[in-house]
Amino acid sequence: MRVLVTGGSGRLGRSVVAGLAARGHEVVSVDVAPAEGPPGVRGVVADLLDAEARSGVFAEVRPEAVVHLAGIAVPFARPDVETLQVNTGLAWAVLGAAVEHGARVAVAASSPTVYGYNTPGWRPRYLPLDEEHPVAPWHAYGLSKLIVEEAVRALARTSGDCVLCAVRPGYVVAPQEWEGAPTQLGHTMAERVADPELAGVSLFNYVDAADAADLFARVVEAPERVEHGGVYNAVAADPLAEGPVDGLMARLHPGSAPVAGALADGRAVFSSDKARRDLGWEPRGTWRDRLRVDRAG
Ligand SMILES: NC(=O)c1ccc[n+]([C@@H]2O[C@H](COP(=O)([O-])OP(=O)(O)OC[C@H]3O[C@@H](n4cnc5c(N)ncnc54)[C@H](O)[C@@H]3O)[C@@H](O)[C@H]2O)c1
Repeated sequence: MRVLVTGGSGRLGRSVVAGLAARGHEVVSVDVAPAEGPPGVRGVVADLLDAEARSGVFAEVRPEAVVHLAGIAVPFARPDVETLQVNTGLAWAVLGAAVEHGARVAVAASSPTVYGYNTPGWRPRYLPLDEEHPVAPWHAYGLSKLIVEEAVRALARTSGDCVLCAVRPGYVVAPQEWEGAPTQLGHTMAERVADPELAGVSLFNYVDAADAADLFARVVEAPERVEHGGVYNAVAADPLAEGPVDGLMARLHPGSAPVAGALADGRAVFSSDKARRDLGWEPRGTWRDRLRVDRAG
């Protein structure tokens, strides 16, 4: 298929572009930053908030599928109003263009931050967190991602044959980050495993970039299996911690104490069962295999 990937030069985008190309798709990566993609992948430098540039790219590429990753990807990285404007404006414009230009499927990146953890009053109703659990964002980034999900739902009402959905990837770990490069919040993966305070901020969630890329590819390849207008969690099956995180959750997120016992068997705080069920997605990357640390030392 001819797939347009927005944000293809980014941390997750590079793996998504490489994964789609390896599966034989014709990939066009669109980003304000130049692409360093694999050979055969076309990189287009364009600001997708610019209406003229955007419609020019879509009219020329005429994508059959769109993977929308472009945006401000880290909470508090930019002023709040900019985060809201960029992430919501981009999603509405890009997904709308996908529908308008005849794509069969379009998927946008959301985030687990929509659940709203890290407030004093955060009390999950149950764990693990699945897509049915209520959302309660509190910062501009989380709110922007909830609006992205609402944009998907809204556009799905009139998108005809174009299937739309959103994916909530966990804390994305790119290939070089398994090898020791700092992750998006500045710590290495070894540091995040060693210090539960670091990984606890994200409820110990993570996902190997190649696994997240595999889920985006599955959406592109099998839109008939996708819940139209729906959302999918995409996190690793285990938590980023040495053992089960029930006790850590109760200590670091006290409002979770009444339900944290459900994690005593070592499962992740987030459930990706819906992606497993609908799309056959199986996250294979676990930190225990990928991380080169001497855990005996
Ligand atoms: N990295 C994570 O852990 C994580 C977790 C959950 C969700 N997400 C979401 O996944 C997506 C990708 O995340 P990432 O970590 O690869 O981020 P990133 O910052 O590495 O990549 C985002 C890319 O979008 C591009 N971009 C921004 N504004 C643009 C515009 N107006 N026009 C064209 N391109 C533009 C940037 O140049 C950048 O290359 C984001 O939407 C992010 O919110 C990321």
